[in-house]
Amino acid sequence: MGLHLGDPAPNFRAQTTEGEIDLYEYLGDSWGVLFSHPADYTPVCTTELGRTALLKEEFAKRNVKVLAVSVDPLDKHHGWKNDINETQNCNVDFPIIADENREVATLYDMIHPNASATATVRSLFVIGPDKAIKLYITYPASTGRNFHEVLRVIDSLQLTAKHSVSTPADWQDGEDVIISPAINTEDAKKRFPKGVREVKPYLRYTPQPNK
Ligand code: BEZ
Repeated sequence: MGLHLGDPAPNFRAQTTEGEIDLYEYLGDSWGVLFSHPADYTPVCTTELGRTALLKEEFAKRNVKVLAVSVDPLDKHHGWKNDINETQNCNVDFPIIADENREVATLYDMIHPNASATATVRSLFVIGPDKAIKLYITYPASTGRNFHEVLRVIDSLQLTAKHSVSTPADWQDGEDVIISPAINTEDAKKRFPKGVREVKPYLRYTPQPNK
């Protein structure tokens, strides 16, 4: 893996179904989700892009712009987009990058030769407003991603970027969060006026601060 958490997300210009874009200009001050899929006109990919389109308002609420990428050409993307809209009952209006030269796939290490020599795997990068990589996940072609999980992780990333907390296993937006071990309990009581619940000195919960 060439890229790591905290690294700058490589910028690029690319042809997309929404015209030519520069990644950084497209994202502006927003968060970003850049995700690859193996190929157009394939069933799992069709459901993934449809689900993303149906979650448009959820991404917008979180100030997240999405972009999909595969190594198929633009005319194929346009035709497939019609199929996605028809079969998934949605309106795909986010850019689908036509990465025929594999420039984006190479920059983001989305081709895993032991999976496929030519097609991208299901990589997904969350990019922060500072253009740093906040998360990446990689799924094989056979497994469609859970886009509710992507939203859940974005909720955690956005919360923990602003508050000295972490989110526990299976956390959902609105549930109690974990106070950073770097803060002693006396300070924690001042910083988290909603309350501090100490289970162990290193395991302390507080109600979600931004709710
Ligand atoms: C699919 O999206 O269904 C798919 C794509 C490539 C390989 C296997 C499945």
